Amino acid sequence: MLVSMTDSNQLRISGRIDAGNAAELEKQMLEECLPEMTAQCADKEITIDASGLEYISSAGLRVLLKFKKTADRPVIINNVSSEIFDIFDVTGFASIFDVRKKMREVDASGCEIIGRGGNGTVYKLDDETILKEYHGNTSLEDICKEKEYAKTCFVNGISTAISYDIVRCGENYGIVFEMIKADTVAGTIRKHPEMLDDLAAKMGRLFKQMHETELPNGALPDTAAFLKEKIRQMGKYYTPAEQELLYKLLETAGEKKGIVHGDFHTQNVMLQDGEVVLIDMADVSLGAPLIDLGISYFLFVDGAKSRPWDVERFLGISPEQALRIWDIMLRTYYETDDEAVLKEKEEQIRLFSLFKVALNPAIWPNASAQAVEAFVNTARDRLFPLLEKKY
Ligand SMILES: Nc1ncnc2c1ncn2[C@@H]1O[C@H](COP(=O)(O)OP(=O)(O)O)[C@@H](O)[C@H]1O
Ligand SMILES: [Mg+2]
Repeated sequence: MLVSMTDSNQLRISGRIDAGNAAELEKQMLEECLPEMTAQCADKEITIDASGLEYISSAGLRVLLKFKKTADRPVIINNVSSEIFDIFDVTGFASIFDVRKKMREVDASGCEIIGRGGNGTVYKLDDETILKEYHGNTSLEDICKEKEYAKTCFVNGISTAISYDIVRCGENYGIVFEMIKADTVAGTIRKHPEMLDDLAAKMGRLFKQMHETELPNGALPDTAAFLKEKIRQMGKYYTPAEQELLYKLLETAGEKKGIVHGDFHTQNVMLQDGEVVLIDMADVSLGAPLIDLGISYFLFVDGAKSRPWDVERFLGISPEQALRIWDIMLRTYYETDDEAVLKEKEEQIRLFSLFKVALNPAIWPNASAQAVEAFVNTARDRLFPLLEKKY
């Protein structure tokens, strides 16, 4: 058998398919499998597992095309080897079918651990590449997104690690990235505190460059659409009038759209040959810079003032260092030392920091009941009264 049905919407093809057996494949796929699949479930996409496929010639590709036309629904060709992927690619078939490469297996046990973050563990695979292995609770879909976002930012001139491929690591998945051959900004500051001012200024310029990188709609997820959905979900905790205040504040973030990182801090920026490189692109989106500034204010300033232990743990620096970095970042970002201007900017950013706090229960579905209560109370005590006065 060249092809076998493994589920109501799944087939497996194997062996070598060429002019000698293409007619046989066509008979099996179109006359035997498809009628039965359609009888069982006619509207689901069809997945063809090609892990056992060794070779396919143009005669074989024509059979697949005919199969897709007859089935008249999306067809995914999964687990293809690199060689067969190349055949699909050069013939243009990769744009007709959804062709997915077989994932490599990577065993990182025994490799040096060079970092840990909220999402996973980072291993050094060799001198050029690292593996970011995700915890089991991160979906493959989210991992694919992170890889795509990193690529989109990279091709648009943002200094970030090249994302190579998605791999299997036993039960988990991971992304293989180019290795940045230096420390994070946090690690560098711990070793060389005298470099803090210079690094903070570099971070400020990188932040601005990202925010000024305008991409066509759809290139990345839309920040405002994401936040509107979060405000809607917060209907569980806030009154409609309170939700209305949040929608209004979001509108004041402005129309300008740039790359929003969503988690810009000293452990997500690294140094390479004196230049800052951005990593951890899981939360990247396209939207108003004020949203991103608000998130970083929450991490640096609000963190230093009310959660000093979080700053040490998540940003890898002391609360005093966090405040100084923020101050220099802001001056570099707005290219001014005019205290009145800076104060006005910071006031605006602070509102968006509180906005982020207000939405945290929806953004972090795993937050404890206690944390949720604290976020909601902060919004009620510190944000809504200000917004009521404004609107
Ligand atoms: N491309 C890379 N090169 C070198 N080190 C890296 C690279 N990517 C991540 N790291 C290290 O691993 C840590 C965690 O990676 P990160 O992508 O921020 O994971 P998380 O999403 O879990 O926060 C980083 O702070 C850094 O020390
Ligand atoms: Mg990180």
